[in-house]
Amino acid sequence: MMVVSLAGSPSQRSRSGVLLDAAGDWLQRHGVEVVRYAVRDFEPADLIHARFDSPVVQRFAEHVEQADGLLVATPVYKASFAGALKTLLDLLPERALANKAVLPLASGGSAAHMLALDYALKPVLAALKAQEIVDKVPSSQRDQAAVQAAFNQWQAESGRPLCQLSAMLAFTVNH
Ligand SMILES: Cc1cc2nc3c(=O)[nH]c(=O)nc-3n(C[C@H](O)[C@H](O)[C@H](O)COP(=O)(O)O)c2cc1C
Repeated sequence: MMVVSLAGSPSQRSRSGVLLDAAGDWLQRHGVEVVRYAVRDFEPADLIHARFDSPVVQRFAEHVEQADGLLVATPVYKASFAGALKTLLDLLPERALANKAVLPLASGGSAAHMLALDYALKPVLAALKAQEIVDKVPSSQRDQAAVQAAFNQWQAESGRPLCQLSAMLAFTVNH
């Protein structure tokens, strides 16, 4: 199984990138091949001029086509997702995410703008025909139990106390 991971932040030191790497590392530990991309890997001129024929863009599109899933991370910028990420998603073919599961991740300065995932990024992923968009917000008791189990596993694997793991996670979302 292969998954493409896409870091959508223009920043080199990226909080959303930390979340993305944690998700990618977790998948790798469970036997999934993770092919990692970042918008920063692409020539800005290829993105701004929408160069569908750029070799780097074409290689990215091929990897997405071969992948079983996509991890995509973005910062919240001006109550939406990062524009640089949109310029790259615009270069994917129409049904690029058909038959793929997608996990969108975001970090923002305020929890108030996390809805940007729902009203801005998810419609774009749906337009690319993503089969299933995994919802990360733990709303039900079952979801919360799953989050607790993930924390327990993270604690067992890292040897760090839960309060430290929680502080690390909080740092990534500016809280
Ligand atoms: C240009 C710009 C616009 C931003 N706009 C918002 C915003 O509208 N809402 C918000 O919650 N955070 C906003 N932020 C804060 C970022 O979302 C936050 O710092 C995020 O964690 C950055 O993620 P990154 O480190 O992966 O780039 C903005 C930051 C920048 C640089």
